[in-house]
Amino acid sequence: MALKRALKSNIQEMIEGLDKFNSDPKDGTTRILFTEPELKARNYIKEEMAKVGLSVREDAIGNIFATLEGSDPSLPVVWTGSHIDTVINAGKFDGMAGVVAGIEAARLIKESGQKHKRNIEVLVYTSEEPTRFGLGCLGSRAMAGELSLDKAKELKDEEGNSLTEVLESLGYDLAEFDQIPVKQGGVFAAVELHIEQGAVLESLEVPIGIVESIAGPSSFEVSIAGKQSHAGGTPMNLRHDAFLACCEIALEAERLAKESASKDTVATVGRVEVLPNASNVISGEVYFSIDIRDSDYEVKSECIDNLMKFIEEVEEDRGLTIKVEKINDDQPTPSDQKIIKILEESCTNKEIRFHKMISGAFHDSMMVGKFAPIAMIFVPSKDGISHSPKEWSDYSDIARGTDILADTLLKLANE
Ligand code: GLV
Ligand code: MN
Ligand code: MN
Repeated sequence: MALKRALKSNIQEMIEGLDKFNSDPKDGTTRILFTEPELKARNYIKEEMAKVGLSVREDAIGNIFATLEGSDPSLPVVWTGSHIDTVINAGKFDGMAGVVAGIEAARLIKESGQKHKRNIEVLVYTSEEPTRFGLGCLGSRAMAGELSLDKAKELKDEEGNSLTEVLESLGYDLAEFDQIPVKQGGVFAAVELHIEQGAVLESLEVPIGIVESIAGPSSFEVSIAGKQSHAGGTPMNLRHDAFLACCEIALEAERLAKESASKDTVATVGRVEVLPNASNVISGEVYFSIDIRDSDYEVKSECIDNLMKFIEEVEEDRGLTIKVEKINDDQPTPSDQKIIKILEESCTNKEIRFHKMISGAFHDSMMVGKFAPIAMIFVPSKDGISHSPKEWSDYSDIARGTDILADTLLKLANE
């Protein structure tokens, strides 16, 4: 028996409900990990989970699990979910669409009365965005065993608070931190719905994307110490301009990505802090980020090696000191072919066209893929825009994706 269709009104209500918790409502959505709006959004979403009859718990890093019990809870579970934190001045769909779709899918399965052997769990992963602590996928990274308590102690926000201090102040029990990692085989399958954050589906006029692989991101924090001096008094040949060194590095990153052997290589210098940032002063210090991603780990590594060599040359040529700190260097994550097949069948049965594609953005599924078979459903992003107040996905598209999600979760839960 087919499940009922997802209700667009439920999806809209929950996405708009979450959006009330926003620290900068005049300019899109800003909801940073463990700030007041984010804590309120957590409570809101836990209430929505409970309303549809799911039992809710949290682990020691604040990952939220909402369980729809199956007939054999001893079996490895089926997961879905995403995140509710955002970058600064973002949209209201990135992450939230997947959490809300998961809750609606669980409601459809529960209300259908159809049997399923495995538990189905809807998750909110803690801080997929690197906004507060500089490292993304904190909750799912810890689940994958790649964020130890020691590393969590070292992660600091701009005010110097460590992740562990913040967790403790909120009542999370750090003694339970070592229980966060998930054993191989503990999760039977995980399917995340997400907005595409690109314009491929829209350009093809296809409503569903099936993700075959998630590109692996690498990120670096770079600091350059040059020589601060007078913009009028210092001849060009006597300068050690930290900002110009940063420009050269950013342009080289762009060139390497454009000329790389993989069509999926992308490189971004998205954050730059120039000191003292004055019109008549040659900059003495620059701090900036480098973000490089690829679906091909070897090609990405080569690109990074070349960039690091270039940085050494710039340091030498310009007579400055450049320090590069590697924040993360993640492998691409392939989707599981068996889950892809179920997703394809579900689309075909419902006569919904789909397109198989890679995800250039990273997602919690990238980390979950280290201990469980994963796949992702993409729904179109208007004009391909995301990480912007202009981000938009139609509620009816999310509802359509939710139908595929619910179908797939039910099938997986009976495998
Ligand atoms: C996550 O939002 C990313 O940067 O891909
Ligand atoms: Mn994002
Ligand atoms: Mn996201």
